[in-house]
Amino acid sequence: MQNFDYRNPTHIVFGQDRLAELDQLVPQDAKVLVLYGGGSVKRFGTLDKVLAGLGNRTVVEFAGIEPNPQFDTLMKAVHIARDEQVDFLLAVGGGSVMDGTKFIAAAVPFEGDEATLLQHGFAPLPIDRALPLATVATLPATGSEMNMGAVVSYQGGKFPVMSPLLFPQFSVLDPSLTFSLPPVQVANGVVDAFVHVVEQYVTYPADAMVQDRTAEGILKSLIEVGPVTLAEPENYNARANLMWSATCALNGFIGSGVPHDWATHMIGHELTALFGVDHAQSLAIVLPSLWALRKDKKRAKLLQYAERVWDITEGTDDERIDAAIAKTRAFFESLGVKTRLADYGIGRDQIDSVVQALEAHGMVALSETGDLTLDVSRAILEHAH
Ligand code: NZQ
Ligand code: ZN
Repeated sequence: MQNFDYRNPTHIVFGQDRLAELDQLVPQDAKVLVLYGGGSVKRFGTLDKVLAGLGNRTVVEFAGIEPNPQFDTLMKAVHIARDEQVDFLLAVGGGSVMDGTKFIAAAVPFEGDEATLLQHGFAPLPIDRALPLATVATLPATGSEMNMGAVVSYQGGKFPVMSPLLFPQFSVLDPSLTFSLPPVQVANGVVDAFVHVVEQYVTYPADAMVQDRTAEGILKSLIEVGPVTLAEPENYNARANLMWSATCALNGFIGSGVPHDWATHMIGHELTALFGVDHAQSLAIVLPSLWALRKDKKRAKLLQYAERVWDITEGTDDERIDAAIAKTRAFFESLGVKTRLADYGIGRDQIDSVVQALEAHGMVALSETGDLTLDVSRAILEHAH
């Protein structure tokens, strides 16, 4: 196992009907900026419950954080937060709202060009303060509710933003708030969480038994509850297990002391930025092809994945790996998430633009071993067509 530090300060408030507890969770004298997306939280009554939970506190609202949150939108909120001198941010929504709120938390006290906050990749931001933030998560997928990362869209790219100052102080996870999700977003969430796990698990062996077994448990849970959630949208226990699976997939625990890949995410981000495919759809396109082409690099863990997650024990090593990749692709497709570029109307002639974007963003040495070059990315995209 590799050396690691693990600290996750986010207080998880899990369960049904807990929004009234916002009154105890948010400081009594806080001036709160409540941030949300395109209106689902209004339509389904979540915002009313949040506002009721905040009681007599002064509240300012900011609506309209779009999927794949845009820098320009977030800067509008930054100006409002400064003008109104709010001192607490409460995100109510999915990954985009939570991520956008994290960026705003970093940007409000930042003295300088806020766009430079997007230039630090996976390194912690060079900041020493941020506004305190918390979340009410309405979409299980990204893990943003319990991690210190965000992804912000800017000038045709998607940029990570990381800082320990951006862990939510608390996150309310009420599975019943996810009943209203359209099936496509449920499926997206299952795929995103699944890929988060494998980016930290299907790499090379690090003799990390607890992390591996936990990763396998999350994957098996997702395989089990994904279809149930789609078939029975108001099945609370399925929703609860999906929600906690997604949170645990990217809250740092399974990623401690092990190598990380993230190549699927980095290539996927370009597909979203260029063609507007949803985040999870981009991952479903890239992952099976990446594994097919990187079989040798990931051989030991792919074999472990085949046996422990899919119970594949028959055949040669290559046959077992191929079967596991096929099962993974079939699982995504069974949820309704297509796995080929062509399924989204993206032509072979557009692969060049993806490779150019990867190059422009410095994504030239990806993966757990840093040897996934632009040529390999191109081959993965060709394979994924
Ligand atoms: O905007 P509204 O009207 O609220 O509708 C949203 C949105 O259209 C809707 N929705 C959310 N909760 C709902 C609901 N509709 C009905 N009922 C509910 N309870 O769902 C749509 C998609 O929302 P979005 O927040 O964009 O989805 P998701 O949670 O998948 O977030 C995706 C974003 O997270 C980033 C992605 O890059 C992308 O920008 N990621 C963040 C990560 C992190 N912070 O650690 C890691 C991930 O890999 C990912 O990159
Ligand atoms: Zn993701």
